[in-house]
Amino acid sequence: MTLDTGMEKKLTSAEISAMRRSYGDDGLETLPADPLVAFSQWLHEAHENPLIIEANAMVLTTADHEGNLSSRTVLLKDVSQHGFTFFSNYSSRKGLAIHSQPQVTLLFPWYAQERQVIINGIAQQISRSETEEYFATRPWNSQIGAWASRQSAPLESRTELEERWKSAAEKWPEGSVVPTPPLWGGYRVMPTEIEFWQGRYSRLHDRLRYERSRTYDHNVGYDEGNLDTSKEEWELKRYYP
Ligand SMILES: Cc1cc2nc3c(=O)[nH]c(=O)nc-3n(C[C@H](O)[C@H](O)[C@H](O)COP(=O)(O)O)c2cc1C
Repeated sequence: MTLDTGMEKKLTSAEISAMRRSYGDDGLETLPADPLVAFSQWLHEAHENPLIIEANAMVLTTADHEGNLSSRTVLLKDVSQHGFTFFSNYSSRKGLAIHSQPQVTLLFPWYAQERQVIINGIAQQISRSETEEYFATRPWNSQIGAWASRQSAPLESRTELEERWKSAAEKWPEGSVVPTPPLWGGYRVMPTEIEFWQGRYSRLHDRLRYERSRTYDHNVGYDEGNLDTSKEEWELKRYYP
């Protein structure tokens, strides 16, 4: 592989250290009792804000069985009382990590609104029928892309990827029904903690965190009834910024 060194364009250390903004006056006195009501409102506001592109983009952090962490952006595709849903490749690095260690973090970085939401929770694969239903709504070229990519595996060259895409496109031409790849599907993250952060003046930011009264037990997990956040008792606590 050859590397393009390009033109050097960089900020000095002094420029980086001087990068700061003063945050606003609008604070968080309190939030609704149901964290998902609060989240849906913030997502809506982020989506309406022209300065925020892809308001549903979130940083997913996973840990593998040895405790090695990795983060990447994924897109939120559904949020309900049962959790936060995204789609990916089950044999990707994140997929393998979730398989051995289902505890994950989702972070929404809505900087243009001086806001951040961090969700800790347990990721579980969604049902095959739900995955298939969603896959069928994707544009054809994304469906073919899902077949072409052996996500997270080493790749010799871009040509190899494009060849794989072409052969999948020949197999399922535009207009035909593209089946869901067996190792592609959705995950739903059931929240155990949801923290809302709002930037305030003088670095006196607001941090309000919903915490579940019951903690997740690795051996037992949650029983079905506990997955429903509307039935769950959440405690809302304020933390030092
Ligand atoms: C804005 C944005 C949205 C993305 N959405 C997804 C997504 O929904 N699902 C996904 O698997 N990868 C998505 N990616 C790519 C991932 O960040 C990542 O590169 C890929 O999933 C491989 O990660 P892994 O090797 O750690 O498993 C997105 C990247 C960006 C920048």
